[in-house]
Amino acid sequence: MDTDMAKIILTGDRPTGRLHVGHYVGSLKRRVELQNSGEYDKIFIMIADAQALTDNADNPEKVRQNIIEVALDYLACGIDPDQTDILIQSQIPELCELSFYYMNLVTVSRLQRNPTVKTEIQMRNFETSIPVGFFTYPISQAADITAFRATTVPAGEDQMPMVEQTREIVHRFNYIYGDTLVEPNILLPDNKACLRLPGTDGKAKMSKSLGNCIYLSDSADEVRTKIMSMFTDPTHLRVEDPGHVEDNPVFIYLDAFCRDEHFTRFLPDYSCLDELKAHYMRGGLGDVKVKRFLNNVMQEELEPIRTRRKELEKDIPAIYEILKKGTAAAKEMAAGTLADVKRSMKINYFDDTAWIDEQSRKYSE
Ligand code: TRP
Repeated sequence: MDTDMAKIILTGDRPTGRLHVGHYVGSLKRRVELQNSGEYDKIFIMIADAQALTDNADNPEKVRQNIIEVALDYLACGIDPDQTDILIQSQIPELCELSFYYMNLVTVSRLQRNPTVKTEIQMRNFETSIPVGFFTYPISQAADITAFRATTVPAGEDQMPMVEQTREIVHRFNYIYGDTLVEPNILLPDNKACLRLPGTDGKAKMSKSLGNCIYLSDSADEVRTKIMSMFTDPTHLRVEDPGHVEDNPVFIYLDAFCRDEHFTRFLPDYSCLDELKAHYMRGGLGDVKVKRFLNNVMQEELEPIRTRRKELEKDIPAIYEILKKGTAAAKEMAAGTLADVKRSMKINYFDDTAWIDEQSRKYSE
């Protein structure tokens, strides 16, 4: 394979919890579509356990447990191990080696300016004391992306600064040591509602600690309960009151999940989402009716995922075999890149026989 020309996908998730519908519409669904498009030469999906440990050093058990949860979620959504390598980050030491050399190409102030790192430091109350590993994880993520020569990183908006930082590292490396690394591009969801799905409580981010997530592995009852108790428009008190659809999670979820055909099946009084929105804004459309519709739409999408997950859960050793195989294939790729990097940096002393000969001549003169 000519890796210079290859179209390669690398993306991943931290195993700190089961995946939720935000992961699904933000990236996971797209990954499956890209996989099935057949347009990519290689696809790697990384379970980023080493990155998860950068802010969970005291809780390795959580990370360990969630590796299998994330793997089950991937496979349940349609990631096919025959087409896509699923890998466990910590099992590929080449990534640490790459990070170590990339660290010399990035300044502390540049890391401090990374917007994702900035918000994450605030969220974790790390302001006064940031673990070094956490602070430098964008560099390790650049190693992830470049190790697999990824051209394409399908991810949510929050990963933009990471891909940007990776591109800078690639430029600097190639400038100093000669063309070696591949420059990646982020592939964002084209549906705006999918960029960042809010929590069921209307908060900007879905997070386990806030208890505002709908998980891919939730039962039908759990999904229904969560949808029926979703935050809506607080000014829409009586059915006849005019309602707002912006910043209303029920409508944002519909933007993300619903298609015209859903109306024919579940709500034939309307032909499309715009019509439903117009009625809500005019007044006279109750939240419960909209929520019931959303429930039907989401259950239809989640049901096959849930069923497949139940099936996969019956053979956990087989899942670990899949991860082992994926990791081995990924390691081979990463080792190739690391060898290229060391050659470019001329730190491949024992393989560089021309250099040894030259030195030898110098000393025998
Ligand atoms: N930072 C990503 C997250 O927060 C996980 C991740 C690690 C990743 N390495 C990656 C994503 C490489 C894309 C590419 O979920």
